[in-house]
Amino acid sequence: MDLPKSVTIVEVGPRDGLQNEAHVVPTEQKIELIERLSETGLKRIEITSFVHPKAIPQLQDSEEVVKRVKQKPGVIYSTLVPNEKGLERALASGVKEIAFFVSASETHNQKNVKMAVSESIRGFRIIAERALDNRIRMRGYVVTAFGCPYEGRIPPEKVDFIVREYVTMGVYEIALGDTTGMANPVQVSRIVERIKPRLGTMNLALHFHDTRGSALANVLSALQQGVTIFDGSIGGMGGCPYAPGASGNVATEDLVNMMDEMGIETGIDLQRLIDCAKYAREIIQKDLPSHLLSAGTICWEGT
Ligand code: COA
Ligand code: ZN
Repeated sequence: MDLPKSVTIVEVGPRDGLQNEAHVVPTEQKIELIERLSETGLKRIEITSFVHPKAIPQLQDSEEVVKRVKQKPGVIYSTLVPNEKGLERALASGVKEIAFFVSASETHNQKNVKMAVSESIRGFRIIAERALDNRIRMRGYVVTAFGCPYEGRIPPEKVDFIVREYVTMGVYEIALGDTTGMANPVQVSRIVERIKPRLGTMNLALHFHDTRGSALANVLSALQQGVTIFDGSIGGMGGCPYAPGASGNVATEDLVNMMDEMGIETGIDLQRLIDCAKYAREIIQKDLPSHLLSAGTICWEGT
């Protein structure tokens, strides 16, 4: 099997995970989680989002989180930004990387950010210029890229359109999101094959939720297409509050375990990651879907 030698794992748990957990985690504990994640070897962590506090009350302490987290040199900390007001808040907090998000589905975008897709894009064009002036790196999410809980099938042209827009805005990376776990490995392979040649030197990242148990299979399919950047959420926590039935991203530790076992380097210490997942379970006060949390690492020497 032809697979990459190494991959980059982007931890999105503190944002995508916590935004959909019923228990609101105190700021102190969020910071502790992010700092522990920073010690695992992860090089990129999405730590919060500057969205409207009423839309996502779980992340209303974003300014405080960004300002107080002890940043480890070499780790990039990013935040989600939905509009100009969000960019202002991000700039005032001193973040160096932001992520835009627009849905490939009109209905989902409307429910998520109360805007048409074209309105979101218009807004991002304006704020991308300001972000670039401020030397802020930008990731562009295409949300519901593989299917939408409201509209069902998403024509690939809709994904192409958003990707094209992001490319002209100067984002350094496109992240295709399977927001409610509708993707399958064959579809992933087709979409990656279609999108990758359009990106030139830009990164392609994949963001799988494990709603229907296909996330790791989808990752393998993308690896075979040469994709080397994958999002994960510690413990598998989370979902999207504006997508019914959504559950968490693939658990970061399950992702890293699979890479380790296949001999693909991540630079991440799996045991430390599992310890972070235990801490995440403690602070959100509920069981998490992670496999490694219950099974532990494989012992090839036997017991
Ligand atoms: N942060 C804080 N406040 C914001 C804001 C932001 N990013 N954007 C707008 N506001 C404030 C405005 O200042 C305005 O305040 P005022 O009434 O005191 O003047 C008010 O919110 C309404 O502004 P408006 O532009 O009409 O926002 P909206 O109500 O249409 O909401 C979003 C649009 C995008 C801000 C909101 O839907 C949102 O935050 N969605 C995020 C959803 C999400 O994170 N989903 C999960 C990720 S996939
Ligand atoms: Zn997500």
